[in-house]
Amino acid sequence: MAKFYITTPIYYINSVPHIGHAYTTVVADALARWHRLRGDDVFFLTGLDENSAKTLEAAKEKGFKDIQAYADSMANLWQSTWKILNISNDDFVRTTQERHRKNVIELFERIRARGDIYKGTYEGLYCEGCEGYYTEAELVDGKCPLHLTKPKLLKEENYFFRLSKYADALLKHIEENPEFIQPEARRNEVINFIKQGLKDISITRQNQHWGIDVPGEPGQKIWVWFDALTNYLLPKQYWPADVHIIAKDILRFHCVIWPSMLLSAGIELPKKIFAHGFLTVEGQKISKSLGNVIDPVYLVEKYSADVVRYFLIREVSFGQDGNFSEAGLEARLNDELADVLGNFVHRVLTFIRDRYGSRLPNGKIDGKIEGEIKKRVERIEQMLLELKVSQALEEIMAIARRGNEYFQACRPWEALKREKEKAAECILTCANLVKILCVALTPFMPSTAAKLAHQLAVEVKSWEQAKSFDLGPEHQIGEPVALFAKIKSSGEEKREGKLISIDEFGKLDIRVGRVIAAEMIPKSKKLIKLEADLGKERRTIVAGIAEKYSPESLVGKNIAVVANLEPAKLMGVVSEGMLLAAEDENGVSILVTDRPVQPGSKVR
Ligand code: MSP
Repeated sequence: MAKFYITTPIYYINSVPHIGHAYTTVVADALARWHRLRGDDVFFLTGLDENSAKTLEAAKEKGFKDIQAYADSMANLWQSTWKILNISNDDFVRTTQERHRKNVIELFERIRARGDIYKGTYEGLYCEGCEGYYTEAELVDGKCPLHLTKPKLLKEENYFFRLSKYADALLKHIEENPEFIQPEARRNEVINFIKQGLKDISITRQNQHWGIDVPGEPGQKIWVWFDALTNYLLPKQYWPADVHIIAKDILRFHCVIWPSMLLSAGIELPKKIFAHGFLTVEGQKISKSLGNVIDPVYLVEKYSADVVRYFLIREVSFGQDGNFSEAGLEARLNDELADVLGNFVHRVLTFIRDRYGSRLPNGKIDGKIEGEIKKRVERIEQMLLELKVSQALEEIMAIARRGNEYFQACRPWEALKREKEKAAECILTCANLVKILCVALTPFMPSTAAKLAHQLAVEVKSWEQAKSFDLGPEHQIGEPVALFAKIKSSGEEKREGKLISIDEFGKLDIRVGRVIAAEMIPKSKKLIKLEADLGKERRTIVAGIAEKYSPESLVGKNIAVVANLEPAKLMGVVSEGMLLAAEDENGVSILVTDRPVQPGSKVR
C-alpha cells in the first residue's frame, strides 16, 4: 500500500473562510479521496494558524477578552465550513494545541543544537499582513506588494536562524529534483530568489503576548511562520509529505524557509510543493474592504457542495490564476452538469427502466468504445498523478459527452424495433459508461457519485472499477432520479424585478443608527424595542427580530434605519423608523456596517 500524505496551508483565523481557502481545500480533498479510492494509505491534514498577531487584533475588534475563546469560536466556524463542503481531512491541527507546541519546541531545540540558532539584533520592515519581513527593494511605493500597507520598522533582540547556510544545499536539491517545486514558473521564481543570496532570518519576536514562548524566555515568542510550518510534522509516521498544496502567496515560506529548517534539523524534505494561482471574484482581488468575500456556505446552500466543488476545480486550470463568478458557476451547472452529465445518465437509466424493466439486457460490450474509454481513464489517472485536477475533470466530462454522442448515434429506441442486439449492445455499453463516470466522479463530487451509485445499484470500492466494463446482463438498477436541477441565471432573475429610477431611490432616507438600548416588548415573541442614536436625534424603533436576536446582543451595533418612514404603532409602541434586515428560510439577519461609522451617516 502506497502512503500518500497531503496538506493544505493552515489558515489564519482573523478572517472567515472564503472561496479562495475553499479552493485549496477542495482540490486537496479531491486528491486525497482519489488516492484513498486507489487503495493508498492516505493522510490529509488541514487546520488553523492561530498564533498570529492578527488573531489578537481580530479578537479585540470583535470584543473578545479571552483570546482562546475567540480562537475556539473561529475553529468551530472553519471546521463546520469544511464539513459542509464535504472535506475528508484525517486530522485538524490548531497551533494553540499542546501537541503542536511540543513539536515546535522540539524542532526549535533540534535546530539550536545544530548551532543554527543564535541571538542578535534585528532591524527590518515587517508586514503584519504577511507576518514577514521585506527589504526596501521588494516594496512597491514603500508598501507591501500583497497587502498594500506600509510595513512597520522593527528593531528587536531576537533569535536568528542561519538560513544563509542552506542556500547551496537547497539550490542543489531543487535542481536535482524537478518535481520538488511546481509548477515550473514557481520553481524558477524560487531558484532566482535563492540565487540572489539568502540572509539569516529572525525567528522570534520580542514582547509579544500571544504565541509559543522560547523555552525559559516568556515574552520571546517563536515567529508565527516557524511555528506554523512545523504543523506539517504532526503525523510523524506519514512524514515526508507527498505534497504540500499552497497558493503562490506563501511560496517563499514553503520553498525556502521550510526546507532549510528541515535540512538543518536533519529531517527529510517534503516530496513536492505545489503553488496554485490566485482566485479573483468578478475580476477583483478578494478583500474585506471590497466586500466581495464570498462565503462558501452561502454557495453550498444555494447550489450544493458538489456543484461548488465541481466549479472550483473545473473553472481554474490548476496552477494558473482564475476567476470566480456566480454567473460562471451557473453556466457550468446548466451547460455541463445538467445538460451533459445529468442528461446522459438520466436518459440511459430511464431507458433501462422503461424498455428493459430496470434489468440490463443480454448483449455484448461495444469494443471500440471500451478501448477508447479505457485509454481516457488511464489519461485521467496520469493527470491526477501530475496534479492536473482541472484537466482530469474535463476529461471525465468528455466521457459523458462521448456517451451522449454514442447514445444519439445508436438510436436505441429505433434499434429496439428492428435490431434488438444493437440496442442491447448500446445500452449495456452506456450503462458501463455511467458506472465509470460514477467511479471517476467519486473524489470530486462524492454526494452526487453516491446518489448515482444508488441508482445504478453498484458499490464504489476502488478506482479500478473506472477501468472495467463489468456491469453485465441481468444487473438490476434502482430508480433513476435527476442528478442536477438547472438554475435560472442571476441575470434573468434580476430582470424580473421592477426597475426604479435613481430619483425614486433617493426618496428613501436610510441612515446608520447605533443601538443604545434594547428590550423585549412585553407579551410579544418577535418584537424588540430599540433606542437608536441617529447622530442628531434618538429614535425608537420596533423590529420583529427577537426569534434570532436577544436585546442585549443588539446594543452597540450600527444598524441601517429607514428614517423617513411614517411612524407606526406596534403593540402599543410607536416605531419611528424601520430597521433593515434580510430574510431567508433560516430567519432574519440584520444589516450592520462592517466597521464603526458615525451614527446618522447616510446609506446610499
Ligand atoms: N497561515 C498562513 C499559512 C501557514 S501554512 C504553514 C496563511 N494563511 S491564509 O489564511 O492567509 O491562507 C493563505 C492560503 O489560502 C493561500 O496560500 C491559498 O491556499 C488560500 N487562499 C487565500 N486566498 C486565496 C485566493 N484569493 N485564491 C486562491 N487561494 C487563496 O497564509
